[in-house]
Amino acid sequence: MFTRSQTGPGLAMVWGSPNHPEENDMLPTRFTDLVGCLAPVQQAGMGGVATTELAAAVARAGGLGMLSGVMVPPPALAAMLDAIPHDGDGAVGVNFLMPFIQGTEAVEVAAAGARVVELFYGGPDPALVDVVHRGGALAFWQVGSAHEARAAVDAGCDAVVVQGTEAGGHVRGGTRLFPLLAAALDLVDVPVIAAGGIATPRHVATALAAGASAVRVGTRFVATAESGAHPAYVDALLAADAGDTVLTEAFSVMWPNAPHRVLGSCIDAAAAHDGDLVGEVGLGDEAMSIPRFAIIPPSRETTGDIGAMALYAGESVGSVTSVVPAADVVRELVEGAEALLSTWNATST
Ligand SMILES: Cc1cc2nc3c(=O)[nH]c(=O)nc-3n(C[C@H](O)[C@H](O)[C@H](O)COP(=O)(O)O)c2cc1C
Repeated sequence: MFTRSQTGPGLAMVWGSPNHPEENDMLPTRFTDLVGCLAPVQQAGMGGVATTELAAAVARAGGLGMLSGVMVPPPALAAMLDAIPHDGDGAVGVNFLMPFIQGTEAVEVAAAGARVVELFYGGPDPALVDVVHRGGALAFWQVGSAHEARAAVDAGCDAVVVQGTEAGGHVRGGTRLFPLLAAALDLVDVPVIAAGGIATPRHVATALAAGASAVRVGTRFVATAESGAHPAYVDALLAADAGDTVLTEAFSVMWPNAPHRVLGSCIDAAAAHDGDLVGEVGLGDEAMSIPRFAIIPPSRETTGDIGAMALYAGESVGSVTSVVPAADVVRELVEGAEALLSTWNATST
């Protein structure tokens, strides 16, 4: 049987026998205790991809479903939060990118309506963390170094997400996940969530056994029934392996000097595209043109040269081989990880 000392600080309590699971306990950790959910799985807040349907499905399945608050007007964000039914064993959060934060109104709206408000891609800011707490939410910060994890805790954060360079989307630091996780665990005492390259039960079990309190999953959730990603983007993910991804600064229009991991094919397609615009995305009654090499990934509302847009993908992409409901992803990751951890424990004692 696992105990806290055997498994590191991520696990909240002694593991029960797999034959006698505690009622409603999917895989209890310090993260599930803190957030008040059943599954130690956070879906990444992904602009254009993380729909309210996706966040709601993850929350209903017991995880932490995330909306993107990036460039969303505060009244629209409030309406998105209102649209999510509170009918599951999970919770909902809102993700913001620091370079796009203007004032605190959207953060206040998020804090009033969500369990977690999370910031990424900027130095941890105690004043912003205070805004989150005053609104009644937990404050998370996604970081790219152990030093930044410590700064997030010093700023008052309740948990940190450590992002390894395997991650899809924008990548903050220069260290792969497991060295980063180990270094962060030495420096902070809040729950640590592992992000980057995680898409299978074995990945989840390994992260939890290494001391993470939860995993944060992006690319795997892009290929789900509730994802807002364009079908051609999803098809490209299903066909790709980890080696087809590239860490680049190619898609820098709207957000320069920010490395990101994409499928290498979209860099080639954008370079070959004739013209300054690659397509349009519908926003209600209006349409916004998408410049070549812009940061916007193609959603279901996007038209144009989809393959030439930012097709964000983590090294996890090689394990993404089918489109399934988001709840199945949560269930498969948690149940599979639980079974593996039990097996590893049985063979180690
Ligand atoms: C399509 C996509 C969009 C993303 N957008 C954001 C974002 O808006 N904010 C953020 O904090 N992270 C974003 N990320 C990064 C994730 O938070 C996370 O670090 C990453 O997905 C983990 O790696 P994985 O994709 O291999 O699971 C995005 C990732 C993807 C794949």
